[in-house]
Amino acid sequence: MKVSYYGHSCFGIEIAGKHLLFDPFVTYNELAAGVDVDSIPADYILLTHGHQDHTADALSIAQRTGATIVSNYEIVTWFQNKGIENGHPMNHGGRWKFDFGTVKLVNAIHSSSMPDGSYGGNPGGFVIESAEGNFYNAGDTALTLDMKLIGETHALDFALLPIGDNFTMGIDDAVTASQFIQCKRIIGMHYDTFGYIKIEHEEAKAKFAAANCDLSLMPIGQTIEI
Ligand code: NI
Ligand code: MN
Repeated sequence: MKVSYYGHSCFGIEIAGKHLLFDPFVTYNELAAGVDVDSIPADYILLTHGHQDHTADALSIAQRTGATIVSNYEIVTWFQNKGIENGHPMNHGGRWKFDFGTVKLVNAIHSSSMPDGSYGGNPGGFVIESAEGNFYNAGDTALTLDMKLIGETHALDFALLPIGDNFTMGIDDAVTASQFIQCKRIIGMHYDTFGYIKIEHEEAKAKFAAANCDLSLMPIGQTIEI
């Protein structure tokens, strides 16, 4: 798998030649000024919830690429009402087999209104399983005991966890989450973008290291192979 970071909670993950794009928020992210949103590839756009800092660029990227939007029923319907033809609606606990692997929509504790204030269903996370490896994108969420179920039923190669605090888990709860999901390779997200979520990088890495976990804070624009 190739993992590219586009800032905030936006990641591109290439599996079996397919491009999965999570929570695109680039145009309004000052930290991502160096990312050309019009050249981000996408076959699938997976949205954890409706908030603007997770969906702002989804419409334009879906229009440009023809990508299929994968999210909860309410969010997919919202995009279909804006003219997007390729949508795959899901709901919590459900799994579907795509051409790159399977997607399971799992619980998150957060909220999920759309940028225009309309109802965005319930927020979620995704567990992706494929021949190239498995990972969990927690979305925006608090620490929850439900994460233990994910660890007990999936062998994860890595996980994307929010660490910025205030709107989601902070570092300490994210360390506990990594233990619940039984995953030692964590890539941080949802930090530094706004004043409320700025973090101390070295302190964060040290706290994960003390729990025998590796925390990656990827530079925006970087691509790594996992
Ligand atoms: Ni949110
Ligand atoms: Mn958010």
